[in-house]
Amino acid sequence: MTEVVNRPPTDELVRLARSSSALILSLQDESGAYPASPTFSAYRGYSWLRDGAFIADGMSAIGEIDSAERFFGWCSRVITDRSAQIFVIVDAAADGSPVADSEMLGTRFTLAGDDGSDDWWDFQLDGYGTWLWAVSDHALRHGHPLDQWLPAIELTVDYLVSSWSRPCFDWWEENPDRVHVSTLGCIAAGLDRIARAGVLDAPRHHRAVEVLDAIRALIATDGMADGHLVKWLGSSDVDSSLAALIFPLAVIDGTAASCTIAAIDSQLNVDGGVHRYRTDTFYGGGQWPLLSCMLGLGFVALGEPARALEQLRWAASTVTAAGEMPEQVANHLREPAMRDEWIERWGAVATPLLWSHAMYIRLAVELGIMGNDA
Ligand code: BGC
Repeated sequence: MTEVVNRPPTDELVRLARSSSALILSLQDESGAYPASPTFSAYRGYSWLRDGAFIADGMSAIGEIDSAERFFGWCSRVITDRSAQIFVIVDAAADGSPVADSEMLGTRFTLAGDDGSDDWWDFQLDGYGTWLWAVSDHALRHGHPLDQWLPAIELTVDYLVSSWSRPCFDWWEENPDRVHVSTLGCIAAGLDRIARAGVLDAPRHHRAVEVLDAIRALIATDGMADGHLVKWLGSSDVDSSLAALIFPLAVIDGTAASCTIAAIDSQLNVDGGVHRYRTDTFYGGGQWPLLSCMLGLGFVALGEPARALEQLRWAASTVTAAGEMPEQVANHLREPAMRDEWIERWGAVATPLLWSHAMYIRLAVELGIMGNDA
C-alpha cells in the first residue's frame, strides 16, 4: 500500500468510499449476485462475471468479506450448475472440433443465476479469468481457504485451458472476431493466481501453467506495439481496459507496464476522465470513472501516487447529488452526435453503475486514504 504525500486526502473522498460500499451492499441480491446497475434498461436484473469480480475485489479490499464471499458463492453455483455444458465444451475442444460460440458459457446471468431470456453479446472469456483472480486474491488477502469454491474453480480452469485462444467479444461486448489482449490478461491473472494458491491437482496445475506461459508469450509478441500493450492481437491501438493488467490484475510489469500506462494517459485521459478507446461512440464516447480509477491504480503500481490521487478526485467529481456514480459522463465526448441515439435506445446513462463505485473503493484503499480499517 502506498502513502499519499503532500496532498492530504479530504474527508469527502473517504466518505465516498464508505458510501460506495454501503450502496453496493444495499443492492447486492440475496443470491449473492451484484446487479450491474439496478435500474438501467439494458442491464436490469443481470449480474456480469467481469463487473462482479471487480466489485467483489473492491469489497474484499475494504473489508466487506462476507459480501465478497456471497458473490463467490453465486459464481460457484452459476458454474457448477453448468458442469455438463463445460464437459461438452472441453471434450469437443480436445477432439479438435470445438463447439460454436453460441454453445459457450454466457457473460452475464440473472440474479438468480439463470441464463435469462434477453439476447446479449454473450461469448466473452474474460469474466471466467477475473472471478478466478478475485476469489484467489480474496483468499490470500484474508487468509481464507478456497475449498468451498474448489469444484467451480476446477471447472473454470478446465474451461479456460480448453478455450483460451478463441476470439470472443471484448470487455465492451464488441469485436467478436478478435483475440483481445485485455481478455488474455484476465485469463492469465486467473490462472496465475489459482496456480500460485496451490489448490489444483498436479495435472490440472501443469495445464494451467502451460497455458499461462503460452498467453505470456503471445502477449509479448503479437500483443504489443511501440513497447505498449494493444487492444487486440495485431492491432496498434490502446484500450483503457489494458490498465487493469498492470493493476489490480498484476500480470504485466516493467517497461511494458510503464509504456502502456503512458499510452493510455496520453491518448485517452482528458483531465482525469478516461475514454474507453479512440473511436468509441457508445453514448457519444464519454469518460468512464471506473477507467479513471483503473488508470489511477496503474499510477500507484508505477509509484506515482500523486497522479493516482488526481484520478480518484476526478472520479469523485462524477457522483450525482444522490451519491451515485454513473457508467460514463458527457463532459468530453468523442462522438457527440451519437449520444442522443443511445439515450433514445436505452435511456439515460446507467446510474449507479456498481463497477464504478467498486473501482473508486479499490483505488481509495490502495492509496491508503481509508485509515487502518480497510
Ligand atoms: C459494458 C460492459 C459491462 C456492462 C455492465 C456494458 O456497457 O460494455 O463492460 O460489463 O455494461 O456494466
